[in-house]
Amino acid sequence: MSSADEVPAAGGGSSNNINYRGQLVLFPLPFQGHINPMLQLANILHAKAGFKNITIIHTDLNSPNQSNYPQFTFKSISDGLSDESCSLINLDTSNSVINFLNKSCIDPFKACLCKLLAQVVEDDEPPVACLISDALWHFTQSVADSLNLPRIVLRTSSMSCIPAYATFVLGQQSYLKTSSLKQELSLMTEKDRQSIIYKGDSEEGNKELIASMIQETKAASGIILNTFKELEEAACLALTQDFRIPIFPIGPFHKYFPASSSSLLEQDRGSISWLDLQPISSVVYVSFGSIAQVSEAEFSDMAWGLASSNQRFLWVVRPGSVCGSEWLESLPKGFMEEVGERGCIVKWAPQQQVLAHKATGAFWTHSGWNSTLESICEGVPMICSPCSYDQPINARYVTDVWRIGVMLDNWRMNRREIGRAIKRVFDMDNDEGIEMRQRSKSLQHKVNLSLQRGGTAYRSLENLVDHICNLSF
Ligand code: UDX
Repeated sequence: MSSADEVPAAGGGSSNNINYRGQLVLFPLPFQGHINPMLQLANILHAKAGFKNITIIHTDLNSPNQSNYPQFTFKSISDGLSDESCSLINLDTSNSVINFLNKSCIDPFKACLCKLLAQVVEDDEPPVACLISDALWHFTQSVADSLNLPRIVLRTSSMSCIPAYATFVLGQQSYLKTSSLKQELSLMTEKDRQSIIYKGDSEEGNKELIASMIQETKAASGIILNTFKELEEAACLALTQDFRIPIFPIGPFHKYFPASSSSLLEQDRGSISWLDLQPISSVVYVSFGSIAQVSEAEFSDMAWGLASSNQRFLWVVRPGSVCGSEWLESLPKGFMEEVGERGCIVKWAPQQQVLAHKATGAFWTHSGWNSTLESICEGVPMICSPCSYDQPINARYVTDVWRIGVMLDNWRMNRREIGRAIKRVFDMDNDEGIEMRQRSKSLQHKVNLSLQRGGTAYRSLENLVDHICNLSF
């Protein structure tokens, strides 16, 4: 299953008359890994669930390309960030920026929402049923409360990430009481736990953000997750008991609509033409997402590691992702000559198409949640090099819970390890490589079942539609 047309529409049992579906207001966090799922959700609710009137409120920072979404209304708010601070956003600063935005956006967001609600009354339009905001926009709960508007949260990371954060960042013990979840959380090593909190950010600021996110999610009218129940059974059970609000794991969203239209960077289609020329399952796709950065020395290690693997590779090097370089200036001398036609480097790729391509045999990833889910959906095993935040948690689930990948968290200054990890995933003379590939395919099959009529994600979407309709009517 790969396109919107193939995923059946969710009728929404008791509230089937779409004329009575109210309006929705959506508020994405302005980062690529959050914009993609929110706009995909908007598309799902519009095309699959009959919500015809959707407004997207967005910040000036990373505003979405409106021309790709003529079906939605867009309202921009000022975020208080100077051009200079925008240009300095990276892994070191992203949580501080989110903390800042949670304060600077309160007044502009409230003013925008009030105006919109007043307009709806004046024009005698169907009422706004609810606000759907990213979980990290925690300030929006009190704004919604003050306007008597129900708020539903979209959490764009995995479901298991919430108990892991609560346990390892906030020091709560409650999730360790659920035996299956306790077993999964106990797989996290000391190194994993240490890396969740990014050292570049202030530790207090990180904790404050996570605590507020969890607290204000519990106060919401529901939580939507870009995952599916079979993938995260233990976390699903634990959250249902702890949160006491309806939980809707309706993902993976991109199986309904691809993310290309919400891409902030232009996707290089040449990567697909290059893949077309490669043998089946021969290429390792390398990408560390939209925000991670590496030093020049690490970049050089990556390059020589790829060279030593002797595997074909498609490598996304995002401009600015190598500290101190515009793009490829710090590629080691002799590297291109050494790898020749075996490698292709692009600035940004159509990732979902790359992962779905028959030539792609493995994904060396930073284990961002979108990337992890996109790889699972295509049955592609992963080589996981997590940086921080939810990534160490996702990586541990990939390697030790679902067992569809290998961990490569010691690649820095250790280029031989890169070659070894890549070989482990491609080695079809070995049980480990064969079984990893079989488990990846079996999980891919589960995703498809979950999205089909009667599957868990399908039913969750129906329940979500009913829930939204019942909030307002
Ligand atoms: C951030 C966090 O780092 C991540 O841990 C969290 O789960 C979400 O927010 P990011 O680092 O960008 O996200 O990673 P990821 O979640 O994997 O999202 C990247 C998105 O960009 C994916 O949807 C991917 O398909 C897309 N992408 C990536 C492209 O379209 N082209 C590329 O070349 C690379």
